[in-house]
Amino acid sequence: MTKKHTIILQPSGSRGQVDEGMSVRSAARELGVEIESICAENATCGKCMVLIEEGRFEKYNIDSRRENVSPVSTEEAAYFARRPKLLKDKGWEVGQVRLSCQCKIRGDVLINVPEESRGNKQIVRKSATERAIEVKPAIRKYLVTMTPPNLERPIADWERLAKGLETSMALVRGTEEKLPRWYELGIDYQCLRTLSKTLREAKWNVTVSVWQDKEVIEVQAGYVEDSYGAAVDIGSTTVALYLCNLRTGEMLAAESEMNPQIVYGEDVMSRIQYAIENPDGLEKLHKAIISTLNKLLKQAAHEAKIKMSEILEMVLVGNSTMHHVLLNLHPKDLGLAPFVPTIHRSMDIKARELGLHINPSGNIHVLPTIASFVGADTSAMIVAEEPHKQDENWLLIDVGTNAELILGNRKRLVCTSTPTGPALEGAHVEYGMRAAPGAMERIVIDENTLEPKYKVIGVTGWNTDHAEFKGQVKGICGSAIIDGVAELFRAGIVDSRGKFKQGLDSKRIRKGESGWEYVIAWAEETSIGRDIPMTQQDVRQIQLAKAALFTAARTLLNRSGLESPDKIILAGGFGSYIDKEKAMLIGLIPDCELDKVYAVGNAAGDGARIALLNVEKRNEIDGVTRKVERFELPTDPEFQNQFMLATSFPHMSEPFPHIAHLIPNRKADPMAKNFMSK
Ligand code: FES
Repeated sequence: MTKKHTIILQPSGSRGQVDEGMSVRSAARELGVEIESICAENATCGKCMVLIEEGRFEKYNIDSRRENVSPVSTEEAAYFARRPKLLKDKGWEVGQVRLSCQCKIRGDVLINVPEESRGNKQIVRKSATERAIEVKPAIRKYLVTMTPPNLERPIADWERLAKGLETSMALVRGTEEKLPRWYELGIDYQCLRTLSKTLREAKWNVTVSVWQDKEVIEVQAGYVEDSYGAAVDIGSTTVALYLCNLRTGEMLAAESEMNPQIVYGEDVMSRIQYAIENPDGLEKLHKAIISTLNKLLKQAAHEAKIKMSEILEMVLVGNSTMHHVLLNLHPKDLGLAPFVPTIHRSMDIKARELGLHINPSGNIHVLPTIASFVGADTSAMIVAEEPHKQDENWLLIDVGTNAELILGNRKRLVCTSTPTGPALEGAHVEYGMRAAPGAMERIVIDENTLEPKYKVIGVTGWNTDHAEFKGQVKGICGSAIIDGVAELFRAGIVDSRGKFKQGLDSKRIRKGESGWEYVIAWAEETSIGRDIPMTQQDVRQIQLAKAALFTAARTLLNRSGLESPDKIILAGGFGSYIDKEKAMLIGLIPDCELDKVYAVGNAAGDGARIALLNVEKRNEIDGVTRKVERFELPTDPEFQNQFMLATSFPHMSEPFPHIAHLIPNRKADPMAKNFMSK
């Protein structure tokens, strides 16, 4: 019998067992991942390049090694020998990078399929929202005209410029403003090194960029009006960058890319674990994100037709793990009790220290973190949504593999976080996949006939709108998983405990390899040639994820003495695509008036953009985050009881009046009082 080995493909997260000796490209196809080729696998096009990742991947229980694929063949060596520049630009070495059509599986291996090799490119769902932002940037430009030095007044270049700058700043801003005197101004060392040359070449007529009214970070010849900045949201899955004009506030480019760290772990805990277990783990994670940021900066600068050196500031946000890895701070204490970050407060660092390819004297501002798993992305969400200025109690939820929650109003804000696992994003669900062409994004089940209909990304309308619907679907993405589970419950196929009911008259309900399941798409409708069901196991995964999220929300409500929030704000790409009624029907979110539930898209990215364009918001958020009260869920005595109650649809004891009409045959659950009385 042919030996089998485990292969994991990232960033898709596809995994499975394949036969020894199979080429990596064929194995990927078998697991539903298409890798490009235009040379019929002749080792000449290079479109099929993949990276063999090395290290221990505890989560998958594999040791991935280069020796676990066949040695570099003569054809591959010849191909790479013709491409030294490509290898240099990408920082790859032969053996790490392989032609997937040539190398053969010999053991367990984790393979990273780079963007350019992917057959079906991912749709990255992160976009900036239109928001009114008052533009008060940290960087201002001033034109300074000086008299050249002479023997009577041989004042040094910097002092001459600083005195001229003091006059220009007062003229531009008005003398009533509190401005520093010339001797209080500083100059960045890198900028100082070219100062004499610039002043002379510019004939003593220059534009000076001053950061926060205290430090000169750039001196340009003549009159220059604009400077630029970038706001970045580093998510565990996606990195989104917005390039803005710092004078007008206009957004000039928006770029996004999958987070390359995904090859080292899908969620933050597995990345922390990777950094702990591999001596060079942190370095690999850090370099991966810095190189992606540089790539996005380059693309954005190209799009906006500016030089990267004209970008003078960046504001970066991300969850606590992304924050630490970005700053090259070891994240191990975030994952170990008592779960403390290295730093909470916001930071300003020179771009050159992080190796970011903007102006080397440019500033990198990182928003503050709030708790071990409530990071700078949540701070940015607060900047964007401003719950601290409301009279009503708002509940803000950023849904992802880790959910962060903030509840409160102008008087008090409380926060917590909970791991929800990757199930809500389509992983760990048998036919789950990320939002990409071929993924189901909506599912409805007729409660009378028990027949489904669904929508697929990349195809217009419902599958039932097309007379012939064949070969279009290959999996279920996060929004459809919520839909699917909610519809199974609403149509009476699964009960409030999430169990499949017996004896229903539908050929779609059957006993599969892992228990009861409901077939949403028959094999002929799919591109994978297999029926796509939702299984008992899938329902269970969603129950655990939604119970974790609901329990976190309930804990915050209880701690605030509230029954329900006045308004629920769902942030993050996932929140934008879920059907709020269905999310409430399965009890993913607490009961609330449905028209008071809003999806706000990438609020963290918007918050980063606001903090980039308005420096006052940075001080404001520093003050707000210092006062936010944090709750760690596992230490809450009620946690286990609440979690058990929350595994039912929508909940074992809470009434959910706003979606009660959708709940099939709801009776008071006799189990509820057992848990309630504990
Ligand atoms: S498919 Fe062309 S080089 Fe592999």
